[in-house]
Amino acid sequence: MPLPGGTLDICSLSLASAKSSVVAMTFLRSATLALAALLPLSSAVPTARADNGGWDAAHTKAATALAKLSLQDKVKMVTGEGWEKGPCVGTTAEISSIGYPQLCLQDGPLGIRFAKGITAFPAGVHAASTWDIDLINARGNALGTEAKAMGIHVQLGPVGGPLGKIPHGGRNWEGFSPDPYLTGVAMAETITGMQNAGVQACAKHYIGNEQELNRETMSSTIADRVNHELYLWPFADSVKANVASVMCSYNRLNGTHACESDLALNGLLKGELDFRGYVVSDWNAQHTTVGSAKAGMDMSMPGDNFGDNKYLWGTALTNAVSGGQVDQSRVDDMVKRILASWYYLGQDAGYPKVGWSSWNGGVGGPDVQGDHKIVARDIARDGIVLLKNENNALPLKKPASLAIIGNDAINNPNGPNACVDRGCDVGTLAMGWGSGAAEFPYLISPLDAIQKQATADGTTIVTSTTDGTSEGAAAAGKANTAIVFINADSGEGYITVEGQAGDRANLDPWHNGNGLVEAVANVNKNTIVVIHSVGPLILERILALPNVVAVVWAGLPGQESGNGLVDILYGSKSPNGKLPYTIAKQASDYGTSVKSGDDDFSEGLYIDYRHFDKAGIEPRYEFGFGLSYTTFEYSDLTTTYSDKTGGSTTTAPGGAEGLYDTVATVTAKITNSGTVEGAEVAQLYIGLPSSAPSTPVRQLRGFSKINLAAGESGTVTFSLRRKDLSYWDTDAQKWVTPTGDFTVSVGASSRNLALKGTM
Ligand SMILES: *[C@@H]1O[C@H](CO)[C@@H](O)[C@H](O)[C@H]1NC(C)=O
Repeated sequence: MPLPGGTLDICSLSLASAKSSVVAMTFLRSATLALAALLPLSSAVPTARADNGGWDAAHTKAATALAKLSLQDKVKMVTGEGWEKGPCVGTTAEISSIGYPQLCLQDGPLGIRFAKGITAFPAGVHAASTWDIDLINARGNALGTEAKAMGIHVQLGPVGGPLGKIPHGGRNWEGFSPDPYLTGVAMAETITGMQNAGVQACAKHYIGNEQELNRETMSSTIADRVNHELYLWPFADSVKANVASVMCSYNRLNGTHACESDLALNGLLKGELDFRGYVVSDWNAQHTTVGSAKAGMDMSMPGDNFGDNKYLWGTALTNAVSGGQVDQSRVDDMVKRILASWYYLGQDAGYPKVGWSSWNGGVGGPDVQGDHKIVARDIARDGIVLLKNENNALPLKKPASLAIIGNDAINNPNGPNACVDRGCDVGTLAMGWGSGAAEFPYLISPLDAIQKQATADGTTIVTSTTDGTSEGAAAAGKANTAIVFINADSGEGYITVEGQAGDRANLDPWHNGNGLVEAVANVNKNTIVVIHSVGPLILERILALPNVVAVVWAGLPGQESGNGLVDILYGSKSPNGKLPYTIAKQASDYGTSVKSGDDDFSEGLYIDYRHFDKAGIEPRYEFGFGLSYTTFEYSDLTTTYSDKTGGSTTTAPGGAEGLYDTVATVTAKITNSGTVEGAEVAQLYIGLPSSAPSTPVRQLRGFSKINLAAGESGTVTFSLRRKDLSYWDTDAQKWVTPTGDFTVSVGASSRNLALKGTM
């Protein structure tokens, strides 16, 4: 594994172990009080929220309004008006007697779909690779601010499912990471940011929707413990962050469609997690009138079956109530939940009206971008992961000549929005395709941004902007340094791109990217590879080429792509992103794949790095990996554990209240031992004591990004919640904190853990 240019201070501490998990203990090795960091320390705990008096007050207001409604009104509020019947991708009818608007629900998780004048932010997976909770929160807040300004009441995001257990999964890029802790923090921060702006967030797709192939028929059979510790985990964090709505998914869970699953909706979500908002169906994921109502679904979208006038609720629901198949109280509960979320976000007073339509290309809508290009660029830049950098090939230092090669370096000649819902891979890749895409207001291509810098530096640029190997080699032969751009795309299954119906067919670069890099590296000794990708790729052929001196993982950066890239390539900021997934040496190493029939999730808890650790497989670049232009040393691990009470078992949003108590604190000192300023993502991994049933050897349970000047030190602090130190006991149906020694590891990645101790 390539390491940063300097040596890390490998410091293994064996900390005194606790006598039992309920004995409070404080270490010992006091932290060397460090110089203050330039930036405040991040800790992975969601910040304050807008709550307008909280859920109880919102439900009280909802009950008052409910009393004024007829059954017909109520049924209107839970049934979508039909596909393309209103201005948004989903609407319900206005109920003027209570001042309730035509509710507007709109995609999506990286920007407002079917609209102009909006920001096309970096995708979720790119936000995750910043590991920066302030930026993730700011992105959510900017998304929510734009949605509110457009009169959107419910913004359909963020995405916590797919979690991404299958690296080929077509929609993984809409979400964050196959690690549930990282995804959970990102969900909570995004929701908090969005809802603080006044829009209702919608956590989707609940649950077990890990592939596009046969997504409407296949069943995910997920063992209870696996569900709690992986797939349900980010939704629990979402509910804890007071998400207003949750979208049930297309697939079946244990044989029953998610939107018809009493266990998933009434049981886990509304029961165990005490979710106070409402469940909206994915578009046409409802299958029955009575079953969905009884299972706990609260809103049917788009209402009809995409424009065929067949409504499973509407009149059919009214009849089911009159006929006694659905209790009136269940419909009252649906309406109360929908109204409560509306009140909870304060949308009953002064909310903007929708003055645009999704169905005319977004023409005539307001410009809501504000200064959001700043956070879009910050994330585009800070989500870039430097994978390889030999002999300080990067940053570039005013090179005399530079060859820019590959179609991924330029914009689609027909414009960045030439293909509907971004359903083609022409020009530079900055988002995947499907309902989670948005229209670019502009797209700064890599070549545009590099050209600008080259002009300032007096660098001669030669280009080959096709993926042709001979043209690429010819251009590469004319410059000192060559930068080759390659990519890999995926998306939602309703569009097929280059033979790929959503999920990726393999983990190779598209358009013979390996061949293009080989052709360039054959003639240029300073070949730098820049990769835009929806998820992991197999890089072995590229890494085998001695002339490939640097590899830059540029993710899915959104509209500010080129600007963010130039900041890193030229070193105006040191690379500081880390991989939110594992990059393997071969696709079969992941141990998961798209299933042609049902999926029994037989890999259990062992996905992504949990699997590589268990199976003893060496990854190419491990989860959490990323290089910098500077180096960091880790020292002075301290651990404090103080769980005396066992915690409150009172149910509250997110589950038993005590699960979220801070029961332990870990700190470490990080020193920038290099020569330039840089930010480091310190990661905390916990191994449960041997008394716990078979569990991954280590799991991410904290991270903190710290910016340090050259020579400067700072302290990172990780707060562990009771749940972070527990496993789900299926027999007892509760989280259990095992007794014994916990392994505590802190370091720069999941396999570069400089500090180790026990607790
Ligand atoms: C699904 O089936 C598995 C295996 O039988 C079981 O452990 C789990 O509790 C079931 N989950 C749901 C959501 O019904």
